Amino acid sequence: MPGGQLYPLEINPHTEEPFLRLPSPNDNIILTPPRANDVKCLAPIINDPRVSVWLEGPPIPYRDEHAEEWLAQIIKQGEDILTELREEDRLNPDGQLKLVGGCPVRHIREVLPDGRDIYIGDIGLHRALMEEVLDPDERKKAVATNNEKAVGDPSTVWSFGDYLAPSHHGRGIMSAAMGTIINQWAIPRMGVRCMVGYTFSANEGSKRVFEKNGFEWKGTLDNGKLVRGEHKTINYLHWQL
Ligand SMILES: CC(C)(COP(=O)(O)OP(=O)(O)OC[C@H]1O[C@@H](n2cnc3c(N)ncnc32)[C@H](O)[C@@H]1OP(=O)(O)O)[C@@H](O)C(=O)NCCC(=O)NCCS
Repeated sequence: MPGGQLYPLEINPHTEEPFLRLPSPNDNIILTPPRANDVKCLAPIINDPRVSVWLEGPPIPYRDEHAEEWLAQIIKQGEDILTELREEDRLNPDGQLKLVGGCPVRHIREVLPDGRDIYIGDIGLHRALMEEVLDPDERKKAVATNNEKAVGDPSTVWSFGDYLAPSHHGRGIMSAAMGTIINQWAIPRMGVRCMVGYTFSANEGSKRVFEKNGFEWKGTLDNGKLVRGEHKTINYLHWQL
């Protein structure tokens, strides 16, 4: 298998960084591991109101110190997966492709004609927060149960969190990024079989990205969510292989 255990990741011959490329017409966009020197790139995008208004997770205003902490966490997650796969290649060079517990590429970059790339967003696949379980105590238990499931367990529920620089909205990039991760990594390399999507109710763009990737809208949830002091209802979408 070309690329051994890293298949179907491609490897940048100059930097040896693994990546996935989006299909045409967005083939100038790649997904790579996060890099420590992305630190200054996150805040300008996350603090843009066209992005921040739809996000729950990051503190707003978002500062470089937040980015530093966050990057340290996700860089380690990605490196651990790559190390595990390289080790498997070493121990078992002709072995079957190993299932892993996450996707090592997530930062979205536009490759410029001169070969440099710029950071334009993030798409992370993680175990679901089970927002559809309305009771907070039951939700906590459901999250814990889902988090305890073994790597490759087909009953594990996964979910995406994502954002893109407003300069690049509306070009099909996030739909293609999600499709690339689902088909090239989540299904074959993580054994993902069940996913859910959550977006704030008014976030039509994000809801469409999920729908274009085969998620089915199941309804609007109200689990009492407060985001920066505002009550939010949520679109709940479901995907099953
Ligand atoms: C949501 C977001 C990721 C979409 O990324 P994108 O690359 O612009 O989306 P795409 O170009 O792939 O568009 C996907 C679909 O959504 C539609 N869409 C995109 N933005 C839209 C908007 N603001 N309102 C209505 N529809 C929209 C597109 O028309 C397209 O549907 P179509 O093919 O049927 O025409 C991007 O707008 C973003 O980063 N928003 C701010 C952060 C955010 O909302 N993150 C998700 C949190 S749940």
